[in-house]
Amino acid sequence: MLSPDPVDLRPFNTLALPARAARYLKITTPEQLTAAALRDEPRFILGGGSNLVLTGDVERLVLHMAIPGKRLLREDAEAYYVEAGGGENWHDFVQWTLAQGWPGLENLSLIPGTVGAAPVQNIGAYGLEVGERLHSLSAWDFEKQAFFTVDRESCRFSYRDSLFKQEGWHRDGRVAITSVIFRLAKAWQPNQGYADIAQELAARAIATPNAQDIAVAVCAVRQRKLPDPAQTPNAGSFFHNPLIAAAQAAQLKADYPGLPTYPQADGRVKLAAGWLIEQAGWKGKALGPVGMYEKQALVLVNHGGATGADVQRTMNAVQAAVRTKFAVDLTPEPIFI
Ligand code: EPU
Repeated sequence: MLSPDPVDLRPFNTLALPARAARYLKITTPEQLTAAALRDEPRFILGGGSNLVLTGDVERLVLHMAIPGKRLLREDAEAYYVEAGGGENWHDFVQWTLAQGWPGLENLSLIPGTVGAAPVQNIGAYGLEVGERLHSLSAWDFEKQAFFTVDRESCRFSYRDSLFKQEGWHRDGRVAITSVIFRLAKAWQPNQGYADIAQELAARAIATPNAQDIAVAVCAVRQRKLPDPAQTPNAGSFFHNPLIAAAQAAQLKADYPGLPTYPQADGRVKLAAGWLIEQAGWKGKALGPVGMYEKQALVLVNHGGATGADVQRTMNAVQAAVRTKFAVDLTPEPIFI
């Protein structure tokens, strides 16, 4: 049922920005999405609100995805196939899989948001992206008025990107992801190469970690470096790590020998946006109520009472500072609405 009164969206976005939705519907079953009345209305699909900048009241119909459920779908000699509803909390789901003895998602512990949102921007951390573990997903297409299933290949995953962003389906509220199936291989290998994780395990004197050990290490690193949205509202990394041409990266490296560079398979080079922002003087700096976090310059934080306009002002200033110093453009990770 549509909410009769406007709904305050502040509790539903991790930057805690003020905004109201005149039309708001909580979705707890896939069947609700098939109602003919939803078809022609401009829509916004809201998950955990952890990758979102609300720039003002939302005129579109807000569909708040809360479809629950998690289960072992099947198992073969090689893998467990685990299904979760799009509205499940991502971190709780990851911890549940580990408790069941199905490793594979541990590096993605403590990422805010929902299961259904995870594939949209192909969430990733500490050497793993969700696309590497995804088997397939189901979604409702409002335009075709049909459910459909896509396999991993068809999701066109790349760094913080997928079919759902490339086709603009997410931006336009065309498609709502209802459930996701993960393939968790029984031949598990620890993914502990990321420097922060390797150091954390070494500090704990764990030489041969199991999946739980890695989850604990990931949580410890995240808690040390990243602000808890419940205390300091934020949306995780605010910008993508930029991908630039090898020649430009070589030039920058000559000018700034400390520049971290990560060569990619396609010949481009990924830079650390946090490093660029710090060098541009923005680590721990604020403009009004919005600043860049003092322990991780890539995280934009709301120090209290910020609006979407305040976020945009700080974002513009940080982008300008990095462009002036390094001639590199930073692209925001969150969706603006
Ligand atoms: N760095 C600085 N100063 C800073 C922050 C970072 O010099 O203030 C340097 C670090 O010293 C390091 C490099 O930048 O050399 C990379 O930093 P870090 O390992 O903290 O990772 P990141 O590139 O800033 C990315 C993801 C995170 C993910 C971590 C770990 C993006 C946009 N962000 O951050 O994802 O948790 O790697 O894998 O790719 C998110 O997307 O919301 C997110 C938190």
